[in-house]
Amino acid sequence: MRYQYLASALGALLATSSAAPLSEPTTASDTNGDKYSLTEVGARNTLDWRIYLNKDGSPASFWHDVPLYPDSGNSSVINFVVEIPRWTDAKIEIKRDEPLNPIFHDDSDGEVRFVESIWPHKSYPFLYGSIPQTWESPNFNHSFTDFPGDNDPMDAFDIGNDIGYVGQIKQVKVLGALALNDGGETDWKVIVLDVNDPLAPFVESVDDLEEYRPGVAEAYRQWYLYYKVARGDGVLEIVGEEYQDASFAARTIEESHGFWRELVAGEVDSNEISYNQTSLPEFANSFVETVSTYDAFDIPRESSIEAAAEKPDEYDHWYYLDDEYELIVLPGEEVGDDD
Ligand SMILES: *[C@@H]1O[C@H](CO)[C@@H](O)[C@H](O)[C@H]1NC(C)=O
Ligand SMILES: *[C@@H]1O[C@H](CO)[C@@H](O)[C@H](O)[C@H]1NC(C)=O
Ligand SMILES: *[C@@H]1O[C@H](CO)[C@@H](O)[C@H](O)[C@H]1NC(C)=O
Repeated sequence: MRYQYLASALGALLATSSAAPLSEPTTASDTNGDKYSLTEVGARNTLDWRIYLNKDGSPASFWHDVPLYPDSGNSSVINFVVEIPRWTDAKIEIKRDEPLNPIFHDDSDGEVRFVESIWPHKSYPFLYGSIPQTWESPNFNHSFTDFPGDNDPMDAFDIGNDIGYVGQIKQVKVLGALALNDGGETDWKVIVLDVNDPLAPFVESVDDLEEYRPGVAEAYRQWYLYYKVARGDGVLEIVGEEYQDASFAARTIEESHGFWRELVAGEVDSNEISYNQTSLPEFANSFVETVSTYDAFDIPRESSIEAAAEKPDEYDHWYYLDDEYELIVLPGEEVGDDD
């Protein structure tokens, strides 16, 4: 009953495999017949830049129109929306308050944001992104963390060998999850592995991973603890300290999917989220006919890409921490300036 509405949307996805990384995102699509494509407008590294999703050739939302489960019978495999490809540092994400939630470059005080590199890591060491049709609701305290949600979809990171591209939609296995407390908000980070990665047949959990990729899970756990130190936010807390296991992570995702259903059904305070969607007519409060979206929401019909703006030099920098995770600052050195 619960997932009945997904059945029709899911059928065609069952045989899907991940698309190969493409250098030109506007022509990106899933390998099983142009399921998804992207429309990119503006210049990268600017506030006006956007990537919009098209599903079967029509505008759709990365958040609300990509099904959570590519195979409705298996909650350990989910769809994953890549926002930040591996080894890049631009803070790119889904825009929660714009119709159909395009991808944009996040800002801080009007400037585009990049993540600082803290030794030994350079930029994002994995593919980072979000889990469609989930919601970390800020309307109540999460039962595991006792903190309200951060009002975004759940986040995930793919530890496989694919580099990925912005807006890529791929199928991944859920291996576990970290319950991050980011400034008093619940912010789950689910560790996942591309189903097409050569490692995927051998790994179902963080423990399995240890056998083939020793130290990787712990290095990434550390990355989340201190990646905000250089911008002055301090070390983050991980509720429960360690990774929660794969079945707990899968249940938490399923629960979050339920919170999202209440959102698109228009049953709860949406906290300024734009929850219009084009694929679930049964949710009449949020459904929009695809043909009307171009005009109603001012969605571009074609890509028009401009040359990327330059990234500020200050991000080509390595920060070092002492054994208390404090930034090491040389006498007279100016670092950690967020501006
Ligand atoms: C779900 O998919 C995973 C990964 O392909 C597989 O190992 C597992 O056996 C599947 N579970 C079910 C219930 O089909
Ligand atoms: C959430 O927990 C905090 C304490 O961490 C408490 O002050 C607050 O009232 C709780 N909020 C709700 C909605 O229960
Ligand atoms: C979009 O969803 C909102 C609720 O967020 C609803 O009020 C509005 O009618 C929808 N827009 C369109 C064009 O249907």
